[in-house]
Amino acid sequence: MAQLWGGRFTKETDRDVYLFNASISFDKRLYRQDIEGSIAHAVMLEKQGILTTEEKDAIVKGLSTIRSRLEDGSLTISDEYEDIHSFVESTLTGMIGDAGKKLHTGRSRNDQVALDMKMYVRGEIIEIEGLLKEFQKILLRIMEENLETYMPGFTHLQKAQPVTLAHHMGAYFEMFVRDRSRLKDIYERMNTCPLGAGALAGTTYPLDRAYSASLLGFESPTRNSMDSVSDRDYVIELLSAMSTIMMHLSRFSEEIIIWNSNEYGFVEIDDAYSTGSSIMPQKKNPDIAELVRGKTGRVYGALMGMLTTMKGLPLAYNKDMQEDKEGTFDAIDTTKECLIMFMQMMDSMKFRKDVMERSAAKGFTNATDAADYLVKRGVPFRDAHGIIGRLVLECIEKGKSIDEMSLEELKSISEVFDADIYEAVSLKTCVEKRLTEGAPGMAVMKKVIAEYKEYLEK
Ligand code: ARG
Repeated sequence: MAQLWGGRFTKETDRDVYLFNASISFDKRLYRQDIEGSIAHAVMLEKQGILTTEEKDAIVKGLSTIRSRLEDGSLTISDEYEDIHSFVESTLTGMIGDAGKKLHTGRSRNDQVALDMKMYVRGEIIEIEGLLKEFQKILLRIMEENLETYMPGFTHLQKAQPVTLAHHMGAYFEMFVRDRSRLKDIYERMNTCPLGAGALAGTTYPLDRAYSASLLGFESPTRNSMDSVSDRDYVIELLSAMSTIMMHLSRFSEEIIIWNSNEYGFVEIDDAYSTGSSIMPQKKNPDIAELVRGKTGRVYGALMGMLTTMKGLPLAYNKDMQEDKEGTFDAIDTTKECLIMFMQMMDSMKFRKDVMERSAAKGFTNATDAADYLVKRGVPFRDAHGIIGRLVLECIEKGKSIDEMSLEELKSISEVFDADIYEAVSLKTCVEKRLTEGAPGMAVMKKVIAEYKEYLEK
């Protein structure tokens, strides 16, 4: 048991209490941030005349050595320390002696942990944003290859109107555009430096907080020391943004699972990204998509956990806040892993264009277009809707699609039908005539793709 405190205690901490209280087993993940923050703090203390140059040099050298030794494996973080801050400070003092004991001047673990967590979250925001961008590149490639891959668009999971695979993928591209912009918002809002807030009320040392903030790449120091040490909004915001990302991935997974089913057969998941059954030899299961869908619950759980942890806390720091880490780390790992797995699965997936097109040709996805055909010949839309409804009913009875009906059969339902109806309700026409902004018609899709390209170059 190695603690940074103890002077005012007359007894050793109970072993179980010590273990219950300690966070080293999980906050060791923050060692880089802790060392980087400590180096900045020492450099600032020297600039302000609080540390001598020799002391600062010894501290910076010692901390850098700890970092490189942790990275090359010659030093390991042992669980005998209470938390990562205690480990770094004690190890430093063990290495350089008394100068190490001065590092904590004008600082508290409360502003230190707030800083570490902020730097960690900030870095992860950038990583997750980068992964989303990689995924968008894959989606854009699929879109460009499938501008003329016709497929049914669904509402209520019933075939509705024909779209293209490019258009369908574009919907997910848009979701990830919003996800990325949410992450950027969070980054901008959170990028203020809590270092120098002290335990809660600042400090009497003449710290240059703006200087430490700039050394660590923050926009500015935080403006209220009590808020600085008790703010975990940025954790909640990231958990919320990741929950939305996972919700999007989960919907995407659901579609892939449906598309991969024997009944649909729209896609073929690459062998490297699917799994078999221990008993049924014919099986090829979409386990990755199912796991992504399933893991969404963990990320939502972390968000709910953090919101609940924070809801009753009076200002300023309370130990409850140590609970911000495990759930957040797990949610970050989960989101990143799911993004990587899912995008690789999509990148290697085969789309069965013929099956998609056949499916779009069946199921009356062109019924709206057939109604529009009548409207263009003067029939009021509501009447046209009724006529096509009767036509569909007759088609179902005869087991035919609209374009398989003879002109006589069509005319027996409405005299307005003419030979050009077949061209009007062909899949190609149905899609290519949809040229309103955001529609699947090739001309407008090409414009959107050009915009996406520009967006990805930024
Ligand atoms: N391990 C603590 C945490 O993660 C560090 C801050 C401890 N501060 C304190 N006064 N006990 O929140």
